[in-house]
Amino acid sequence: MATQTLTLEQRLENAKAALEKADQAQVLKYYDQLTDDQKEQILGQIESIDWVECTRLVQSHVLNKPEFKAPESIQPDPYLPRIPGKDLADRYKKAKKAGEKLLREGKVAAFTVAGGQGTRLGWDGPKGSYPATAIRKVPLFCCFAEFIRKAEQKFNTTIPWYIMTSPINDAATRAFFEEHGNFGLRPDNIMIFPQGMMPAFDAKTGKALLETPDSLAMAPNGHGGSLKALYTSGALEDMKNRGIEQLSYVQVDNPLVKVIDPLFIGLHAEANGDMSSKALPKAYPKEKVGVFCIVDGKHSVIEYSNLPDELAEMRDDDGELVYKGGSIAIHVISTDFIERINTQDGGFALPYNRADKKVGYWDEANQVTVKPEEPNAVKLETFVFDALPMCAESIILETDRIEEFSPIKNADEPGALDCPATCKQGQTERAARWLAEYGVVIPRKEDGSVDAVIELSHMKAIDPEDLKELDLPSEIDAGTEVLI
Ligand code: UTP
Repeated sequence: MATQTLTLEQRLENAKAALEKADQAQVLKYYDQLTDDQKEQILGQIESIDWVECTRLVQSHVLNKPEFKAPESIQPDPYLPRIPGKDLADRYKKAKKAGEKLLREGKVAAFTVAGGQGTRLGWDGPKGSYPATAIRKVPLFCCFAEFIRKAEQKFNTTIPWYIMTSPINDAATRAFFEEHGNFGLRPDNIMIFPQGMMPAFDAKTGKALLETPDSLAMAPNGHGGSLKALYTSGALEDMKNRGIEQLSYVQVDNPLVKVIDPLFIGLHAEANGDMSSKALPKAYPKEKVGVFCIVDGKHSVIEYSNLPDELAEMRDDDGELVYKGGSIAIHVISTDFIERINTQDGGFALPYNRADKKVGYWDEANQVTVKPEEPNAVKLETFVFDALPMCAESIILETDRIEEFSPIKNADEPGALDCPATCKQGQTERAARWLAEYGVVIPRKEDGSVDAVIELSHMKAIDPEDLKELDLPSEIDAGTEVLI
């Protein structure tokens, strides 16, 4: 029976039964002290959770650490090189054309996952609202919007933009888009939808934590939740109605990412790919990125922590790392694939992963939500790359750090990596590389880094070839800030 037709009392009885079976009756500890609205809220949360699945996960992932089962067979999943040799030149040329054609025909959409909590950065607001660019400090969302607008102009097309939020940042994200006039994009081409949530569990007891008397401590269920949320939110249906065939998947924290890459889209489409990926060659053997592998005959990503040292460090005859292709969460996913996995018999389930995090919990004695200093809880998350084993076809294309990867994960502090300061350098370095290709003289410091700050707006260029049309300076003066 639909919950709307039940009385609060009936809903309470159902909730009690589910929670008692799951040994989580503490969730209703303060129920009798709540107002009707508060009762609605906590019952709604309880009803949104699969407590049978949680009981299993508390055993396997909270009270115990899930064990990684070593695969029977494992080998590296080869990737296509960033720059094709003679043998691949024709294939790349054809693929780029095919990608551009799909774009011109309006068959490609952009997808940004922005449901994470961004706890490491510590920014007060959705991560997409973080002022990210080197000089103008435009927010990450604006950076992507500018990319989309430029690509729309270039390919004389419409590129709908789907953005996954979580119930925690959905309202703030919508308000941010509205406040900024959707960054110049038409609102009917933007669809924002929230992902699913999971309760956070006390790491020692396995009990679901209450954040306040009327609310569980809930956390987004990982970027893997996108594959279900695209379906349940109606985004997939909207895409199908618009004739979208390919979805270009990027994360909200990397302003250098090619939101739309015709070559990558074309290589994927020409191979009839279900879900394809970009790979970044690891900088050193134990770099903390998942690695593309073929596991028991299937495309997979193995987390760095699960890849045995001898494999992580294995080199071929040329001294190159054998397990080298790092996963940086850039994908193209075909809408047929999203539909297929969601509508197949029994649906699909991605494996959960354990993340030890600091999660606020209700302190009854002091009547406050305590923000712990150390991780106290387990969040359960699924990863989008765990859909790769379900793919019949998938390609991997190499990219490189300067070109496409400088995420903002952490707050600035001395020595920090993947933070706003390193991202500013990354943006400058890529702009310098593109400008140098067109003859602009770039000042460099002794250590080889660019002796200037350069921001190349996506409205001007999303690919070096776009610089052809611009009036460029002949050189950049040392120590200056240059906005192009
Ligand atoms: P991260 O793994 O960096 O997590 O997300 P995060 O939540 O943003 O940051 P921390 O770990 O709390 O500091 C990588 C990408 O996946 C998205 C994020 O928004 C980011 O774009 N993501 C992550 C989701 O959309 N949903 C999630 O549940 C988790």
